[in-house]
Amino acid sequence: MIEDCTINIRLDASVGEISPNIFGHFIEHLGRCIYPGIWVGPNSKVSDEYGFRRDTVSALKSISAPVIRWPGGCFADYYHWEDGVGPRESRPRRINVWWKGEESNEFGTDEFIQLCKIVGSEPYICVNVGSGSPEEALAWLEYCNLSGNTKYANMRINNGHLEPYNIKFWGVGNESWGCGGNFDPVYYAWEYRRFATFMKRVDPTIKLIACGHITRDWNYRFLENLRDYIHLIDYLSIHYYFRNGQRYGGDINFTDDQYYNLLYDIQHLEYQIQQAIHVIDFFSEGRKDIGLIVDEWGVWHPQATVDTGLYQQNTLRDALLAASILNLFIKYCSKVKMANIAQAVNVLQGVCLTEGDKTVLTPTYYVFRMYKSHMNNYALCVESDSPIIWSEEKELAQSKIKLKPLKALDVSASLSSDKKCLIVTVVNQSLDKDYSAKICTNVNAKFLECTFESLNANDVRAYNDFVSKETVKTKEEKFSVNRSSFEFTFEKHSVNKLIFKLD
Ligand code: AHR
Repeated sequence: MIEDCTINIRLDASVGEISPNIFGHFIEHLGRCIYPGIWVGPNSKVSDEYGFRRDTVSALKSISAPVIRWPGGCFADYYHWEDGVGPRESRPRRINVWWKGEESNEFGTDEFIQLCKIVGSEPYICVNVGSGSPEEALAWLEYCNLSGNTKYANMRINNGHLEPYNIKFWGVGNESWGCGGNFDPVYYAWEYRRFATFMKRVDPTIKLIACGHITRDWNYRFLENLRDYIHLIDYLSIHYYFRNGQRYGGDINFTDDQYYNLLYDIQHLEYQIQQAIHVIDFFSEGRKDIGLIVDEWGVWHPQATVDTGLYQQNTLRDALLAASILNLFIKYCSKVKMANIAQAVNVLQGVCLTEGDKTVLTPTYYVFRMYKSHMNNYALCVESDSPIIWSEEKELAQSKIKLKPLKALDVSASLSSDKKCLIVTVVNQSLDKDYSAKICTNVNAKFLECTFESLNANDVRAYNDFVSKETVKTKEEKFSVNRSSFEFTFEKHSVNKLIFKLD
């Protein structure tokens, strides 16, 4: 059945520029993410000349992965970067305290930078605060960014890398309220000031990212203790995982109610974003433009445990979730400047999975490939209406936050920087109904032609595996329009992108 909806786009009302970095990724020395998801060594038959998996690199390239965060995650606060540079055969093996097993250190700073170069991504390094020291972080910064005749800059040169890497993004610890040291916000603020004071002194061009939390209290107390040193912070980061087996079911087995619960709960992430922005604005008091980063996000199914290396399957449902979350980041793009889905390969909501020499692209991969059209565009205000498809009376009554019933269509729109293309992404979240919507702009702009791309499958539980690699995939069509409005039908449980050429 088809029901009518509207999508009105305010072509003259931009909510901000969409940083490409909101479509970012995260890799950690965890499970099979780096070994063998990314690094297999130069002698492998699936590797390129450097030692990276050709298939993974090509997947990350095709989605134009704009930024990659590394080395963790919890791993970051136990990582000693000097273990991972110099001749590979003499690098020490270490225990991986958080994720079991041993760390060979074959993939270190120079390999990470090489990966980013090949993929075309900006590197984002998280330094060790939990078990490290400012001295160690400064040495790492010197190794990466300085060009003088000094110990660590020379170490990089001796390792074959003449030019400094000029890494812009540096995280000061990871989840310092948890695996990063179980600090309280006051103590973390104290450590943060120590690290940041010297890091900014060594390289004033870097951007520093502080660990925030999804409790308002942590962010409030942390920033309160940084009030007089606000110049030391460029971004506050939060993490958000959808992790509740009872409420969301498993990776491939879930009920219809559990499907809706997951999409409905995106509102909790929105609430955390609003809260974090509120606290940032309160303490920066217009003195400093501090951005918000969501540098770990995604769905964490019960199948992903330390024993499975946080491996899980990834269905069309997860892709719908990813698309709606990217719509949310676009909505808040004036403040959300980066986001990194966890994690790129073989861990949690990866964009690809590997097994031996085989690779499979997950439904979430296709969302990132579709959404790259929004990069660097101006996000537009959208007024959209569609029928309510899910509401939980109990949740609505009990929740401290103002939850809204879930509507069928979740929409975002952007205008290309040359103002010649309008990009509209629409997620039809309904499990059983196609919806038709009339798309128009407030200035009656004429649409010349439309390129349409859609991600869907017969069932929302569908996924791609090593036997059936293309159960969930995209299809594309082109239409001539030549009108100022366009009626379009969005299939049930689908992610859609329309690119309109404007007159
Ligand atoms: O992404 C897996 C883990 O989740 C990360 O290591 C940690 O930061 C978070 O708790």
